[in-house]
This record gives sequence, structure tokens and C-alpha cells, in this order.
Amino acid sequence: MRISVIGCGYLGAVHAAAMTKLGHDVVGVDVDAAKVAALSAGRAPFYEPGLTELLTETLASGQLRFTTDIAEIKGARVHFVCVGTPQKRGEFAADLTYVDAAFAGALPHLSDGDVLVGKSTVPVGTAERLAVNLQGSGATLAWNPEFLREGLAVQDTLHPNRLVYGVPSGVPGARAKVVLNEVFAAPLAEGVPLVVTDYATAELVKVAANSFLATKISFINAMAELCEATGADVTGLAEAIGYDERIGRKFLNAGLGFGGGCLPKDIRAFMARAGELGVDQALSFLREVDSINMRRRVRMVDLAREVCNGSIVGRRIAVLGAAFKPDSDDVRDSPALSVAAQMQLQGAHVVVTDPQAIENARLKWPDLTFAKTAEEAATGADVVLLATEWAEYRELDPIRLAAVVREKRILDGRNVLDPEAWRVAGWTYRALGRR
Ligand code: UGA
Repeated sequence: MRISVIGCGYLGAVHAAAMTKLGHDVVGVDVDAAKVAALSAGRAPFYEPGLTELLTETLASGQLRFTTDIAEIKGARVHFVCVGTPQKRGEFAADLTYVDAAFAGALPHLSDGDVLVGKSTVPVGTAERLAVNLQGSGATLAWNPEFLREGLAVQDTLHPNRLVYGVPSGVPGARAKVVLNEVFAAPLAEGVPLVVTDYATAELVKVAANSFLATKISFINAMAELCEATGADVTGLAEAIGYDERIGRKFLNAGLGFGGGCLPKDIRAFMARAGELGVDQALSFLREVDSINMRRRVRMVDLAREVCNGSIVGRRIAVLGAAFKPDSDDVRDSPALSVAAQMQLQGAHVVVTDPQAIENARLKWPDLTFAKTAEEAATGADVVLLATEWAEYRELDPIRLAAVVREKRILDGRNVLDPEAWRVAGWTYRALGRR
């Protein structure tokens, strides 16, 4: 099937390459000429494990190309809209400028029978509004939310854990479903569950899922606050409650909390939309979820102050990790970077390292000092903070690191180190929610 993908960021670039891998003929469109040039040359414009290999393979097949010219979507039967919906400046609501521009740009090039598929995360009600603009074009709108995780994007796109189609009622909806089933024939053949529903439900599925995940993380972080007040241990607590299948152990890792380009802005946009719909009370708990999450960052700076006997002014602090999570170079709303910047603003000399995200971090916080390796960052440090749980930081040797620091103080911002091993090596070990 001929497919176009409009918007080639974290979502669209992976989607375009994955659709080619599934056997389709794909054109990816983006307004950013540098991004299009990089993708056309087989270079991923961001770090995502497996993407370079997938791009190389699919470009070589001759069935994938990238362009800045939206007119080249003509001839494709299915058009995926994958542009971003960031948080508006100074507001909780989502900024739909890029979605509206993508739809306006695509409209003149649609043909009778085409299916335009929204994948961007949008406030509920957006699809219905956009569908009105398609009337008379002969094309049908479907909404197909995306659940991929950064760092696992290739695998999640090729083998999603579920597919959701929001389609209109009647014949157009039935036709859109048939076309989408053809697009996703391979994952469907693997037995991936499919939910076919209306636009509003499809839009809500996405934000409801991210809200649930954010709530689960803030729940365990709230328990961490209780643990700190009582001398209990949040990792033991998470393990023990996680054995209950109804609760489950996943997404119960206490620490610096959630960040990234999705969870934080999605829960805020959801609250804003609920307000517009007159049901803000239904989501007032998300405000608390957000507050608990942001408190973790403040608490971590306090903890650094605590281990430095009351002041971080002039102290050298090594921050291991800048990305919002491991296996990504994404620093959008990164808890690691936010804590690093706060400590720097409060007078510490902060040295940040990350296996992939230094360039992005430097663009955002040029005043921070950056080091290539954990050892380099930790050299002469008064405190070492593990802020993003990259595998290489989880496996750090406390004895080797002890040789380069000034003071053996380790803050485990993600609760991934073995406290005993570090204490035995002479370190003061502190973490959020642990004795
Ligand atoms: C999230 C969702 O997991 C995806 O399903 C969704 O498609 C995506 O948002 C999106 O809306 O596009 P992602 O932002 O890649 O994916 O990252 P997650 O793995 O969800 O992690 C989010 C944040 O929560 C990270 O900062 C991570 O460190 C933190 N986290 C995660 C915790 O603090 N504790 C945990 O137990 C799990």
C-alpha cells in the first residue's frame, strides 16, 4: 500500500521506516529540510536504538523516501499525521498549530477514498472538528493513537501491544477499518488486539493510558515520601505490592519521577480539556500527580544539600544522566537536567554526563559543565547523583569511582544501585524513599 507520513519527529520517522518494513511504499514529509536530508541519508536525527539500522534497510529497498514537499503525498492511499502537540507556553493546554497546519497542507492533495489517519496526541474532540474540514474531499478521517515508548520505539511500532482505530459510523468508518487492517496486516496476523471505536474514545484512550502511567509513578513516589518519614524502604514496598497481579510491579520505580515530551504535557493538556468540558473535578487528582512528581526534583536538591552538611554552594556535583530516561537523547522536561540546573542555580558547580544526550542538554542549559564519561564527571566531585538509569551507570564500580571523587557521597535518584555494595566501599549512600 502507498502510505504518506506527515511529520518525521520521534513518532513519524520511526513510523515511516516501520511501515516500509511492513511491506508498504512510504513517503515521509517534514518541514525541516535538515531532518529530511538526514533521514534521506539514513541518519536518524535523534538517538533511538535500532532506528539507523531500520532506516538503512528500508531506504535500500527503494520503498522509502523523505521530502519537504507536502504535494508528494498525492497518490498515497493512507496518510498518517504524526506531528507534535507540545504544551502551550504559559498554559496547560496543548498547542494544535502543527496538527492544524498538517491537515491544511494535506487537504488539497487528498483523493477520493483516501484515509487520513491522526496519530498525534490531541485533546478529545479534535478529530470531530477536523473531520468537518474533510467533508467534500472524498477522504475519511480515522484516529489511531500511538503507544510507543522512546528507547523501544522500533519494537513497539513493529509489534504494538494493541491497535486502536477511532472511525466514523456507517460505510466510511467500515471502509477506513478495512484499509487500516491492510496497513497493519502483519501485526494483526501476530494476534495484536484491535479495538475499533469512535473518535472521542480513541483520543481518550491515549491520554487515559498516559494519565494512568503517570498516576502509578506518582503513587509510588508519594509512598516514597511516607517511607522517608517512617524509615521504611520504598523499593521493598514496590516489590511486595507488585506481586499482586492487580497492581503489578511495572511503573512502580520510585525516584526522580516522570519527564519527557509526553507524560507531563499530556496530563496537563488533559486537565485543561476537562476544564473546557466542565468536568475538571474528574481530573483534579492529576494536579496532585503533577505536584508529587515535581516535588521529587526539589527533594533531590534538598538531599544533595543534606549530604553536603547544609549547603551546596561551591560544591562540585556530578550528575550522571541528562536524558529523561535511558536509551534516549531526549531532554524534554528531563528530571535529571531539571535537578542539575537547579543545583547550578543554587551555587553548586554541576558537571553533567550522558551517553547520548549531552548535545541536546548543552543546547538547553549551556551554563552547565559537561563531561564525556561518568569518571570524568565524578573527578573531584563532592557528590555524585545518578539521575538517569543508563545501564553503564547502574553497573558502575563503587571502588573504581571512589578513587576519583573528593567525597564518597552517592545519591541514587532512580533507586537502581545496591546500597550495600556502595556502603561497603565507604560511600555515603542516599536515595529517595529509602533509609
Ligand atoms: C510514554 C508512554 O509510556 C508510552 O506508552 C506513550 O506512547 C508515550 O509516553 C507517548 O505518549 O508518546 P515515554 O515518554 O517514552 O512513553 O516514556 P516512559 O517509559 O513512559 O517513561 C516516562 C517517564 O517516567 C520517564 O522519565 C521515566 O524515567 C519515568 N518512570 C517510568 C519512572 O519514574 N518510574 C517508573 O516506574 C517508570
